[in-house]
Order: sequence, then C-alpha cells, then structure tokens
Amino acid sequence: MRKKKNLIPRMDKCRHLLAEAPAEHKGSWRDLLRPGCQLRLELGCGKGRFTVASAEAEPGVLFIAVEKVADAMIIAMERAKEAGLENVRFIHGDVSLLPEIFAPGEVDLIYINFCDPWPSSRHIRRRLTSEGFLQSYRKVLRPGGSLRFKTDNRPLFEFSLSQLPKNGFALADVSYHLHEKGPAEIMTDYEAKFYEQGLPICRCSAVMEPMPPDPGRTELSSPGL
Ligand SMILES: C[S@@+](CC[C@H](N)C(=O)[O-])C[C@H]1O[C@@H](n2cnc3c(N)ncnc32)[C@H](O)[C@@H]1O
Repeated sequence: MRKKKNLIPRMDKCRHLLAEAPAEHKGSWRDLLRPGCQLRLELGCGKGRFTVASAEAEPGVLFIAVEKVADAMIIAMERAKEAGLENVRFIHGDVSLLPEIFAPGEVDLIYINFCDPWPSSRHIRRRLTSEGFLQSYRKVLRPGGSLRFKTDNRPLFEFSLSQLPKNGFALADVSYHLHEKGPAEIMTDYEAKFYEQGLPICRCSAVMEPMPPDPGRTELSSPGL
C-alpha cells in the first residue's frame, strides 16, 4: 500500500476513534459504549468498509478493529468519523497482542475477513487461522463466543476448516459460495472487488467450546501405562 500523505495530521483528526494505549482498557472496553453491550473484534480491518457498515447496522454493539498498517487504517478511521460512529474504536497493532489487550472472556465475537493467505508451508504460523492464533483467540473469547471467517482463498479455507475443530471451535455454518444468489451480508473492501469479478467467497462460523481431549495425552495418562 502506498504511503499516505499527511498521515499524522489526518490521524489527529480521528484521534477520538483511536485506542492509543489499548491495554489500559483491558477488562473495561465496554465502558466506551455501554455496560453489558456486545463486544466484537475485527482482525485486519484494512480500509474499514466492513467495520463501518457493521457498526452503522448495529449501533448497540461495540466494534474494535485491529490493523497493523496505519496507511490502511487511516482510511477506515476517516470513514468511521464521516459516518459519525460512536461504537467503533481502532487499535493500531498486531493481532498477536490480543491477550495483552483484552481480558479473558471479554470478547463475544471475532471477525477475520480476507486475511493474508501465507501460502508457503514455511509461513503457516502467520496465518490468522493457524493454531497459535486460534489458541490466543480462546484466551479472550467468552465460552460460547464465536469466530466468523471469510476468504476467497480455497486452500486457506480448507486449512482453516481443519484447524478450527482441533482447537475447540465447532463449525456452525460453512459456505463455499456465500453470495451465490446475490449479496448475502455486509461485504469488506476486498470482498466487494471479488464479488464484482464473480469469484466465490467462502465463509464459516465457529463456536468456541471446551478444548477437545488430546488423544496423545489420554494414552499416556491411562492406568497401567
Ligand atoms: C488482505 S487485507 C484484507 C483487509 C480487509 N479485511 C478486507 O477484507 O478488505 C488483510 C489486512 O490484514 C492486515 N493484517 C494482516 N496481518 C495482521 C496482523 N497480524 N495484525 C494486524 N493486522 C494484520 C493487513 O495489514 C491488511 O490490511
């Protein structure tokens, strides 16, 4: 992404939407909107089309968008400011920091939309649906909380479908062609482009359950062994 001109002054104009020291809100994020409200995270929000449309559609829900590239996030922040949203905050940082920023069980729902596929097997651990990341989401999601994942990348989707159950996420809703009969739900910037090109979008939901038993560990702890 090209470097944005005047990033700092532009950021200053939207500063009320930026969580500058996000760890200070750990355990009390809902105070930013209303006690007891739903708290949802969007990981890698990019330019924020999904963030803004979702927050407009559900003003009673607090949306926290995480993005590591400031040049993309500024566009999302400006869109949120333009829309006059009060139920969105942005975190400029890496998804790997979530457990430092959110208390255990604080989050109701996590969206992962069109994350980078990292196709090489050397980079599996960088995929946002790989084991290390899924285990970190478990630390911040409430029991029964959920994760919603969308991608145009079929191999990444298959990989994710294999990883989710192993990490205690029960698959609830799997589609290989979400918008087959026309736009089915709010789209991200990437998704809108892919949709216009006629490409199928994969989407799944998954509900966090207790971790499945580890077969290796069960064998070792069996009586008599
Ligand atoms: C392919 S873009 C998709 C953007 C947006 N979700 C959409 O669908 O239009 C992936 C975005 O995730 C961000 N991203 C990737 N890995 C990240 C990480 N570990 N922490 C925070 N943001 C990340 C990238 O900077 C990029 O903006």
